[in-house]
Amino acid sequence: MTQAASPTPNTVTHTATNTMADIETSHASANAVPDTTVTLCSSEAEKQNAQIRSQFPALHQMLDDYPLCYLDTAATSQKPQMVLDAMAQFYANDNANVHRAAHQLSARSTLSYEKVRDQLQQFLKAERREEIIFSHGTTESINLVAFGLTTHVSAGDVILIDAAAHHANIVPWQELAKRTGAVIKPIPLDQACRLDVSAYKTLLELKPKIVALCHVSNALGTVNPVAQLVQLAKAQGAITLVDGAQAVAHLTLDVTEIGCDFYVFSGHKMYGPTGIGVLYGRFDLLDTLAPLLTGGEMIKRVSFEATEFGSLPNRLEAGTPPIAEVIGLGAAITFLQAELTPQVQAYEAELVNYLQSQLRALGEVHLYGAFDDNIGVVAFNLADEHHQDVGILLDQQGVAVRCGHHCAMPLMQSLNLKGCCRASIGIYTNKHDIDRFIAALVSVKDLLL
Ligand code: ALA
Repeated sequence: MTQAASPTPNTVTHTATNTMADIETSHASANAVPDTTVTLCSSEAEKQNAQIRSQFPALHQMLDDYPLCYLDTAATSQKPQMVLDAMAQFYANDNANVHRAAHQLSARSTLSYEKVRDQLQQFLKAERREEIIFSHGTTESINLVAFGLTTHVSAGDVILIDAAAHHANIVPWQELAKRTGAVIKPIPLDQACRLDVSAYKTLLELKPKIVALCHVSNALGTVNPVAQLVQLAKAQGAITLVDGAQAVAHLTLDVTEIGCDFYVFSGHKMYGPTGIGVLYGRFDLLDTLAPLLTGGEMIKRVSFEATEFGSLPNRLEAGTPPIAEVIGLGAAITFLQAELTPQVQAYEAELVNYLQSQLRALGEVHLYGAFDDNIGVVAFNLADEHHQDVGILLDQQGVAVRCGHHCAMPLMQSLNLKGCCRASIGIYTNKHDIDRFIAALVSVKDLLL
């Protein structure tokens, strides 16, 4: 993994005896006025941002009297025109099923579909194109792996799961444990909401069968040192899966460098369409997965007596795939490869830091897991106000954030929270968005407190 902005030391002051509550409130400052001393981004970066932003039609709309301020990219990103065009062009000109017909439309469609597999191989730096499997999203990708590994797992085997994991990286493993008698153990977070590496090392002494990690926490934006964590797991013989759903739109990825067996993500969080996901799997292990779905296209030979499955990647792609969505994903990759330069990554990192500092300066705001190397996301609550109330009042001013448990209920429980608000940024977010959000939050604060 390469990250543009190098992480600087944790801005959270904490000691071994701090409670989680201490850490949360340590961020709240008495200043009522947001900090305007932070200098953000060169005019060159602002120009580049404006050029990128202009490619996203949905961002240029009014919600009642307010221009949209979209800070919910972690839930789903907006789509650039080139993704919309690629999908419309496919349906208007090439629409045909893939791999199935002798006619020219099908040949065009198959070519475009398989080209995206090649793009992904290059994008992820995977060794082989057969290591790329199309699914309908991160959730399905993890289900594919968890189901496919059933015969690898026996009663009593240990499955370690990151305590910050999204439900999609918890529930499929629980179902695997039910089927096999395996035992789930969470990898705890430390006081500051980072994965507790020393507790992880102790858990690894149990020689887990599977280790499921997140690359970037969807609820907090904290980043795991996945290459290091995977290496430790591999040393104990574990199979490793990394959920990259929140990483893929922001970081430059190299699955070979990370060294994991499986890496999963969705198209819709990386400026592509919904309904398309990716499973990268190390070939030798991927090739042993039992297929979750069986039926057309994944077979070599079928008779009423027996069926012989085909080879990778088709063996794990039964049925008609989401063809237009794959083509849209291909356009999103082209977009990211052109636009997500180190300068743009640095701009995103600055925006997250600016957002954190402005929230701190507001006072009466609790931040959760806020580090200056967080990716894309800032999680917060306004004093003791219900997160949903804050979200609705922000929406009334055109500001879109997500409020709730963020599909990470175990994490919320460990923070002793019912939920929180989450502001998340994308490649198109600018300083003005953050200022709009802070101004709206000031008025929510004035109303509620
Ligand atoms: N997983 C998505 C989120 O974090 C939906 O909001």
